[in-house]
Amino acid sequence: MNPASNLVLIGPMGAGKSSLGRLLAPRFGLVLRDLDRMIEERCGVAIPTIFELEGEAGFRQRERGVLEEVCAGAGQLIATGGGAVLDPANRERLRRCGFVVWLKVGIELQLRRLGRDRSRPLLQVAEREQRLRQLAAEREPLYAETCDLVFEPGPVAARSAAAALARELERHWQRHPATPAAVPA
Ligand code: S3P
Repeated sequence: MNPASNLVLIGPMGAGKSSLGRLLAPRFGLVLRDLDRMIEERCGVAIPTIFELEGEAGFRQRERGVLEEVCAGAGQLIATGGGAVLDPANRERLRRCGFVVWLKVGIELQLRRLGRDRSRPLLQVAEREQRLRQLAAEREPLYAETCDLVFEPGPVAARSAAAALARELERHWQRHPATPAAVPA
């Protein structure tokens, strides 16, 4: 049990962090902080342009800055980007600031969801499946060491996955007493 007031979603591209975040934030009375959207709003350009102009290193630096700022707050649902766990300092911050849920999905489901995606620079390669497998091999140990709970949404609609995760959270997430109780569905 992690008595935290923030709820954090981690996991790979296509796991549904943003869509589950949008559904779960009001359910638990939390303010949604989608780190990728915050970076884009601040830069005034989309993520592919940031990668193009500043490289992945530039993007990671911006990601670290936004994550540090958000982790200082409370009562938030923090939806991270798939690579936010690469940085050890980010992992430590996420662990300390919230109850961390790893949305675990298989490569097939990722491929189905991201098949035509053009917004993720790391997927603009000929061999998407191979890239996703390589990213999973590198990152799954990091998701595992960062999370308080592993949740496998499976190939269901976001609304069903959100309802199932909400039930898990009611069982496992001991909220910080300063935050309001969950709003019944
Ligand atoms: C990335 C995932 C993306 C975004 C960026 C890099 C990654 O977010 O942060 O394209 O390294 O896996 P999503 O996980 O929301 O797609």
